[in-house]
Amino acid sequence: MDTLKQYLNSLLATALAGETGLEQCNPNVITASKPQFGDYQANGIMALAKRLGSNPRELAGRVAARIEASNDPLIRQLEVAGPGFINVHLSDAGLLARARQIAAQPEMLVPQADSAQTVVVDYSSPNLAKEMHVGHLRGTIIGDCLARVLERLGHRVIRQNHVGDWGTQFGMLIAHLQEMRAEHGDMPQKLADLEVFYREAKAHFDSDPEFADAARKSVVRLQSGDPEYVEVWQQFIEESLRHCEIIYDKLNVTLSRADLDAESRYNEELPKIVETLKEQSLLTVSDGARCVFMPEFVGKEGEPLPVIVQKSDGGYLYSTTDLAAIKLRSFSLGVDRSLYVVDARQSLHFQQVFAVAKAAGFASPSISLEHVAYGTMMGKDGKPFQTRSGDLVKLVDLLDESVRRAYDLVTDISPKLSEDEREHIAAKVGIATVKYADLSKNRTSDYVFDWSTMLSLQGNTAPYLLYAYARIKSILRHPDAQDSARAKNISISAPEERPLLLKLLQLPEVVQAVAQDCYPNLLCTYLYELAGLYMRFYEACPILKAEQLAVRDSRLALCALTAETLRQGLDLLGIDTLEKM
Ligand code: ARG
Repeated sequence: MDTLKQYLNSLLATALAGETGLEQCNPNVITASKPQFGDYQANGIMALAKRLGSNPRELAGRVAARIEASNDPLIRQLEVAGPGFINVHLSDAGLLARARQIAAQPEMLVPQADSAQTVVVDYSSPNLAKEMHVGHLRGTIIGDCLARVLERLGHRVIRQNHVGDWGTQFGMLIAHLQEMRAEHGDMPQKLADLEVFYREAKAHFDSDPEFADAARKSVVRLQSGDPEYVEVWQQFIEESLRHCEIIYDKLNVTLSRADLDAESRYNEELPKIVETLKEQSLLTVSDGARCVFMPEFVGKEGEPLPVIVQKSDGGYLYSTTDLAAIKLRSFSLGVDRSLYVVDARQSLHFQQVFAVAKAAGFASPSISLEHVAYGTMMGKDGKPFQTRSGDLVKLVDLLDESVRRAYDLVTDISPKLSEDEREHIAAKVGIATVKYADLSKNRTSDYVFDWSTMLSLQGNTAPYLLYAYARIKSILRHPDAQDSARAKNISISAPEERPLLLKLLQLPEVVQAVAQDCYPNLLCTYLYELAGLYMRFYEACPILKAEQLAVRDSRLALCALTAETLRQGLDLLGIDTLEKM
């Protein structure tokens, strides 16, 4: 089933083609910007009229007349407005027919995309030398939401957790770990806190030249495959991944071991990447380092900016690995789109790598490489979020704090629930709160992390939406609601019902937009507006106490459809709903 927007776009495109004789006409239908403009509006007529040198209002009038003559059951009325817009008013009967169909088949709330693509979502991707900190939160949950959304639309999603597990830092860590083992025997307990372990190793490295030298040698031995070094490295990586998995589990993030796309995976491929660049005469040696200069990348002074692919000591870089990954994704995985959900501060890196990959043929001609950039999470002081001592906040600590705060909130609103119940609810609400606060912001801006607004029961927050859902579910649990909530005879009898109904039918348009442009906040805004329209309906329209049985049943069906839409929408954000709160 087409979404309302798709349906109207093709209806208007056909009428436009009929009037103009042109094959490709884009009526550019969007949801109406104001209620008085109807439900949708077509904005594309003016541009088309201009191209044809005809009068836009006159063309709009002819198109509207043509559609009205066709008696389309979904259209109540079209009106020409302003310089040549067409305002579209949909018929109640048409909306109700769709609603009944969806009430019978809730999976139709979000129908599959017309053509399925293979999409890589590269996200989370922490550096395994350290513990995950708040800087990893955004990428992890935005990426996970995009993976869920694309999958729901029927695309083949390949999650790639491109963890940093290779390079100089690991030499230092291995050398330190080896020393600890020599002193304390087996695997030291020290690894329980990777942050502390890293800091100790670094201090050791900085203060002891002999150790620093051993550290440098161990990278070389690791990268050349010395079994003793590989074994220690593997132990470290294993431990670090376990830390990540605890976080993924707490966060309800869908990444698993199978999604690992570690940097080390590309070790053997890297010399070939450099070789290919050389064969294609793209390589320049500058100060002993091998670089690619692309004419479009210049610095502030107009100086050419290099993409370094091999250092003078022979070591490879982050860029080299990304080129190898693009090659794999293009030619072995047959990917249509590759999304990189990574901090905005890496924008230049990705622009350069994408450009080199295209020039060198590491990217297939059809692959779309997209940097899904996100801004920084800030503290209330306007600086990047930190602990009081200026350290990065560990993600684990942040999540535990959120659950603690959610417990207080739940105790406040539902003191009668048992302690077990409150704990269960707090665990869900706490995680949902952190995720939703992030997902609901436009990803490209920095945002201020503030407990008091994100845990509020009012406003665009997880607690508000979860509470709205739980309240609808409590109505639906009423004995009088048992059979009737399943009734498919939705009708419209009060003015607050139609806007709610229309909104319910718009979920798939929003989901498509998220899949296309990668802005999860569009889905959050949608769910927040939906909950608002539901509250208006709830306050104005008696449900269980409705006088006529048919009206009661219809309203219960609207409640059920709203709850289902909230549930599915939140699920796409990676948030579990609660039956009680
Ligand atoms: N590990 C990198 C970091 O911590 C992020 C990797 C992102 N993905 C990629 N394909 N470059 O900054």
